[in-house]
Amino acid sequence: MRSITPFLFLFSALSFLFSATSDSPFETFLHCLSNQSSPSISKAIYTPNHPSFFSILHMHTHNHRFSAPTAPKPLAIVTALDESHVQGTVVCAKSNGLEIRIRSGGHDCEGLSYVSDVPFVVLDMFPLGSVDVDIAEGTAWVQAGSTLGQLYYHIAEKSGVHAFPAGVCPTVGAGGHFSGGGYGNLMRKYGLSVDNIIDAKMVDVNGNILDRKTMGEDQFWAIRGGGGGSFGVVLSWKIKLVSVTPKVTVFKVRKTLEDGARDLVYKWQLIATKLHEDIFIRVMHDVVHSSQKGKTIEVTFIGLFLGKSDEMLSLLNESFPELELKKSECIEMPWINSTLYWYNYPIGTPIEALLDVPKEPLSQSFKTMSDYVKRPVPKSGLKSMWEFIIKSESVRMEWNPYGGKMHEISASETPFPHRAGNLFLIEYLTSWGEDGVEAKNHYLNISKSFYEFMSPFVSHSPREAFLNYRDLDIGVNHPSNVTNVDIAQSFGSKYFKNNFKRLVRVKSRVDPHNFFRHEQSIPPLFGNL
Ligand SMILES: Cc1cc2nc3c(=O)[nH]c(=O)nc-3n(C[C@H](O)[C@H](O)[C@H](O)COP(=O)(O)OP(=O)(O)OC[C@H]3O[C@@H](n4cnc5c(N)ncnc54)[C@H](O)[C@@H]3O)c2cc1C
Ligand SMILES: *[C@@H]1O[C@H](CO)[C@@H](O)[C@H](O)[C@H]1NC(C)=O
Ligand SMILES: *[C@@H]1O[C@H](CO)[C@@H](O)[C@H](O)[C@H]1NC(C)=O
Ligand SMILES: *[C@@H]1O[C@H](CO)[C@@H](O)[C@H](O)[C@H]1NC(C)=O
Ligand SMILES: *[C@@H]1O[C@H](CO)[C@@H](O)[C@H](O)[C@H]1NC(C)=O
Ligand SMILES: *[C@@H]1O[C@H](CO)[C@@H](O)[C@H](O)[C@H]1NC(C)=O
Repeated sequence: MRSITPFLFLFSALSFLFSATSDSPFETFLHCLSNQSSPSISKAIYTPNHPSFFSILHMHTHNHRFSAPTAPKPLAIVTALDESHVQGTVVCAKSNGLEIRIRSGGHDCEGLSYVSDVPFVVLDMFPLGSVDVDIAEGTAWVQAGSTLGQLYYHIAEKSGVHAFPAGVCPTVGAGGHFSGGGYGNLMRKYGLSVDNIIDAKMVDVNGNILDRKTMGEDQFWAIRGGGGGSFGVVLSWKIKLVSVTPKVTVFKVRKTLEDGARDLVYKWQLIATKLHEDIFIRVMHDVVHSSQKGKTIEVTFIGLFLGKSDEMLSLLNESFPELELKKSECIEMPWINSTLYWYNYPIGTPIEALLDVPKEPLSQSFKTMSDYVKRPVPKSGLKSMWEFIIKSESVRMEWNPYGGKMHEISASETPFPHRAGNLFLIEYLTSWGEDGVEAKNHYLNISKSFYEFMSPFVSHSPREAFLNYRDLDIGVNHPSNVTNVDIAQSFGSKYFKNNFKRLVRVKSRVDPHNFFRHEQSIPPLFGNL
């Protein structure tokens, strides 16, 4: 990298007056890029000597585990200002044998969108972040670089009774989120994000722009849940908006072990998937310290109901009276405000907060894992599980109920296979603020131990996992190695179950030489098509 620094300086200063004759793959890549893309490409390239290189790199680096000074850095970041920059990056990286990492919101739980062990270029999609809402048609075109917060904001700008089923965290990017399925508190009513995508524009391995018609139904199926970074670069999605009531009802009820959390959580497991599909109740499990009780578990039931509080209370009074939810604990608000409430913003926060982008690189490291539960965890299991969490102090869990629409859609409708038969999805989150390898190993060990501890309570053969909570511990292909289909099968069966085979067939057809790849991408069947 160092040797080309002066060249790069010239490159940005004089963009198109090349006279250099050096020919490393990276330099040839830069030449090629200037030739292939629109003239504004010179403003889109950040090499490590650029004063803004690190701020651009860290702007969408959401896990401190991968932003340490020792983490591998890209040869360059191309911030796509124009669709031609995406086409140029693909064509030129491919012709020069360089690996690319595609990044939209940068929330990949294992950092795959901005870290690689082989020389690589980050294709950063955040500048392509427009949201074009057509209320008359009930649709929107959402560019890959938009965040969920931006999407929600722009829908609400045009209508108080439209919404979109997607994640709770407003800074997550549409590019990666929809590629992996995308779930949130509307999933029992409307399914996943991918269940509501009706068209897409993407750049294929030859640099061509395809839409649903030109890519064909097989590839359109694959990109709706088969994971980002395997089939091409998504430029934008066309989504179908869903309808919500002018006011929705939200609540948060907190109970510690001493308040009877165990019986409530047990009961929740029995009824959460059977509740009316307009009700969604997530359960969060946290360790808290209280002066009277010492260390204990606090369980938070956080609810969303598409309608008024009285109607919800009478439904819950029938199916979950043990929660003893009071009218005074229910708050009615427009759906858009509820997105802020669900992300823990204080009541009254202006909805412009949805447009915020994190300004500083985050100092928190985390490790995520996931599980699917098909039988209620017995009360004895809840007890030992919480004892483990209390001891660890660093693990928390979120339980998200299925049922409703999630159980009506067949397991092969999209690559996302976790439909009927599941009670809930567990997200495990272990996070820490300390720097260094020792701390990292300590917390990764806790995370792994807890995952092992949970195995009797969760799905098996395969132990299913949710792609958007990417976890490299369930199988990984090293990027410098020939892709091993058996290894891919090990994580592929967990993320996709039987849909993995169809994903491999699509991949073999659209990217047989495996240009779009990372540690958990879908492999083509080399020479075995
Ligand atoms: C704080 C936090 C909260 C979350 N909450 C939820 C939630 O509520 N619901 C849920 O379902 N998930 C949730 N997730 C998981 C999240 O959906 C995934 O991490 C998702 O992949 C993030 O998308 P991104 O664009 O932000 O990430 P990125 O890191 O940019 O991308 C993720 C993956 O997709 C690929 N990719 C990105 N853009 C494109 C593109 N344009 N074309 C092709 N491939 C692309 C990347 O190469 C990478 O492999 C959360 C994650 C975090 C960290
Ligand atoms: C630029 O593109 C043209 C046409 O696509 C091609 O003929 C030429 O060789 C390219 N030049 C470089 C330096 O890549
Ligand atoms: C809840 O149900 C009980 C018994 O069915 C009834 O007496 C009570 O009035 C109900 N409360 C509400 C708020 O609907
Ligand atoms: C919802 O958000 C709007 C816009 O920020 C605000 O004016 C309104 O008071 C909020 N309503 C509630 C009930 O939170
Ligand atoms: C975690 O560390 C302990 C103590 O070093 C070790 O015995 C255990 O096997 C580790 N667990 C995992 C899952 O790595
Ligand atoms: C590459 O693949 C071979 C054979 O599958 C395996 O033995 C080796 O460990 C792999 N190397 C890396 C770095 O993953």
